[in-house]
Amino acid sequence: MRIVCIGGGPAGLYFGLLMKRRHPQHHVTVVERNRPYDTFGWGVVFSDAMMQAMRAADPESADEIESAFNHWDDIELIFKGTRQRTSGHGFVGIGRKHLLNILQKRCEALGVELVFEREVGSDLEFADADLIVASDGVNSRIRARYVDQFRPDMVVRPNRFIWLGTKKAFDAFTFDFRKTEHGWFQAHIYKFDQDTSTFIVETTEEAFNAHGLGELDQQGSIEFCEKLFADTLDGASLMTNARHLRGSAWLNFSRLICERWSVFNGRSHVVLMGDAAHTAHFAIGSGTKLALDDAIELANQFDQHGHGGDNIKGVLQAYEEVRRVDVARIQNAARNAMEWFEVVGQRYADTLEPPQFFYSMLTRSQRISHENLRLRDRAWLDGYERWLAARAGVVTRDDERAPPPMLLPYRVRGLTLANRIMVSPMAMYSSPDGLITDFHIAHLGARAMGGAGLVFAEMTCVSPDARITPGCLGLWNDAQQAQWRRLVDLLHGVGHAKVGIQIGHAGRKGATKLAWEGIDQPLEAGSWPLISASPLPYLPHGQVPRAMDRDDMNRVCDDFVAATQRAAAAGVDWLELHCAHGYLLSSFLSPLTNRREDSYGGSHENRARFPLEVFRAVRAAWPSDRPMSVRLSCHDWTESGNTPSDAAIFAAMFKEAGADLIDCSSGQVWKEERPVYGRLFQTPFADLIRNEIGIDTIAVGAISEADHANSIVAAGRADLCAIARPHLADPAWTLHEAAKVGFNALEWPKQYRSAKAQYEANLARATAAVTVAQ
Ligand SMILES: Cc1cc2nc3c(=O)[nH]c(=O)nc-3n(C[C@H](O)[C@H](O)[C@H](O)COP(=O)(O)OP(=O)(O)OC[C@H]3O[C@@H](n4cnc5c(N)ncnc54)[C@H](O)[C@@H]3O)c2cc1C
Ligand SMILES: Cc1cc2nc3c(=O)[nH]c(=O)nc-3n(C[C@H](O)[C@H](O)[C@H](O)COP(=O)(O)O)c2cc1C
Repeated sequence: MRIVCIGGGPAGLYFGLLMKRRHPQHHVTVVERNRPYDTFGWGVVFSDAMMQAMRAADPESADEIESAFNHWDDIELIFKGTRQRTSGHGFVGIGRKHLLNILQKRCEALGVELVFEREVGSDLEFADADLIVASDGVNSRIRARYVDQFRPDMVVRPNRFIWLGTKKAFDAFTFDFRKTEHGWFQAHIYKFDQDTSTFIVETTEEAFNAHGLGELDQQGSIEFCEKLFADTLDGASLMTNARHLRGSAWLNFSRLICERWSVFNGRSHVVLMGDAAHTAHFAIGSGTKLALDDAIELANQFDQHGHGGDNIKGVLQAYEEVRRVDVARIQNAARNAMEWFEVVGQRYADTLEPPQFFYSMLTRSQRISHENLRLRDRAWLDGYERWLAARAGVVTRDDERAPPPMLLPYRVRGLTLANRIMVSPMAMYSSPDGLITDFHIAHLGARAMGGAGLVFAEMTCVSPDARITPGCLGLWNDAQQAQWRRLVDLLHGVGHAKVGIQIGHAGRKGATKLAWEGIDQPLEAGSWPLISASPLPYLPHGQVPRAMDRDDMNRVCDDFVAATQRAAAAGVDWLELHCAHGYLLSSFLSPLTNRREDSYGGSHENRARFPLEVFRAVRAAWPSDRPMSVRLSCHDWTESGNTPSDAAIFAAMFKEAGADLIDCSSGQVWKEERPVYGRLFQTPFADLIRNEIGIDTIAVGAISEADHANSIVAAGRADLCAIARPHLADPAWTLHEAAKVGFNALEWPKQYRSAKAQYEANLARATAAVTVAQ
């Protein structure tokens, strides 16, 4: 085969050498516009796993790369006059020039033709090539020629960064945050040879403009950064090796995804590789890794399918299929990390204390969890857990393990929860006439004995016509109130759990069948008239609700207040106002379901007017020493719907009205929604609202392990974690998850104590068996 790689960066060079090594008959050319041994950039970072893959692919270059490595384990944070350090993170760094030189030399030794100082205009310049690899970087000219086929999606990110170097050897991967009069700047610093370190400085567009950095030349920018980070540089100067860039050399990162990675140009197959196909932000330093992994996978696919020209199409398809999965995973983690650095100034730097700021930074990509940190640096994490515990009023001796973050007490108004786990409200559709039955006593009783600090019953409707289904729980009469009293007394009697009620009105989603008879489907018999913000049915064949007038609002508000008074009298500890999931109050908040033209529709203020009226009336009726939360749909997951920034605006309004926490859910407002599910998928909303609006939050949604909950609480992304489906599967979720992370100091109900020791012993045995098997 005749193979041409356009672009001699890591992708082109490595693929060229791998193909020549595996099949010396191939004619392989790498064409690069720069001079040999001349490149832009400083150091790149690798992981141990990356090196293993490279060793398997080409031990000769791997040996050379490894011998040139600088290895370091520590991460250091310089922040608000403090220096904090943790170990066990295992990075290796190498100069980009050095890496390319090794690859170039290895290409030459294997017989790859290297052509330098040739600017390629088009793939058609290589008419006799069977395979053309477009490894020409993020601004790929080859990709641009076939834009209709590759369909690239390029998003230019808001932050500005400048890639500099310094002749000071930092012995840890160092992050340095500095506040200026116009905002925060951060430096990402890592050593890559004996005496040189990469020094990337990043800031927001606003701070960049306010400091006039766009008007400065490179020297001016360098002087600005030297002054800002003078303490850390300790007399060393900063350098650029990007003199070829015009202007100030501050860049914006562009995130790239392509719909297709290969085309046939009529004569040759053309395939994208490395940055030409996808980019990953330097915040997790994986761009070079992705480029090298692409090269290894494409070469492997030729091994599997055969190195003949006839197999190219199948090879390219298989390459794309395999690589897409890994690339998406890394891009996801890189996006989380990148976004953390984009919002760090407005969200975390001014609010979190240095230890928690450090933890938040370490877990920014959400690939490194709490237990991961324990594996990396147990002593550091133990110390952090003790610090967090002390802030929650739990003092531990130095030789004693502090409770994991999810088991720390939480105080709000006059109430203390024993821990941060809450059984999320879950409709059970099992109430005749809105009454609590023996089923609820057994169901909620089991969960109250399962360790959670707060047990919520399902959405409880404030009037008969406020119900979602004929099986929904209600609180509008004395019989229901008496049953609530019985439930609360029983739950208080079996353990430490506090009891929560979520009050709501179904609005346009009312009068539907029980979930197992057809979720959201309108009742065929026994229906009742519906009301909502606007006359829009939830399903096309659903009942059209009547738009509420002022009388309706007064009546509904009174119903909420009456239910609140009954809940207070029944001894309920916590009240949540349900303003989510497309039910009545949520239908006012979303522009999709609120089309009103009066003072209750239009602006945020107008849309929130009725929900806030209800909130204020309920808050006034609810005892002042008991907390109130508000559940919001923080994302409608559909065009023109509410987004997390709208939710943050509403959260600020509820905060001002006296809400203690926002329970951050999403969706179920609009039938055609397209939610993006995934582990902890709603936690970013809780994080945004907590740290930008300054109100405590509850995270909910796909939180399924202690490790998730501990990471959320420890990073300050939320104050409580609501766990729903896992609690249906396991009433004792909290007790079991605590044991799984090795915390055995949690009390089980005294009647169950004999099971505790056995459960823990079985877990220890299973862990030991896995360790031996490895
Ligand atoms: C600030 C910053 C820090 C980074 N830090 C890291 C890190 O720590 N770790 C990491 O893994 N990655 C890092 N990266 C990312 C990394 O630089 C890239 O992801 C990686 O180099 C991609 O390799 P590539 O071969 O696909 O593209 P490139 O390295 O961009 O190579 C493309 C090559 O093609 C050549 N070329 C382009 N057009 C033509 C043409 N028309 N004709 C001929 N030649 C052409 C270019 O001159 C270039 O040499 C960082 C990036 C930035 C911006
Ligand atoms: C069976 C069931 C019933 C639910 N009922 C309610 C409810 O009454 N009120 C509410 O706000 N959310 C309700 N939800 C949503 C959950 O409280 C929770 O937000 C959601 O299931 C995501 O959490 P999870 O991933 O832990 O299950 C319900 C969820 C389930 C599975």
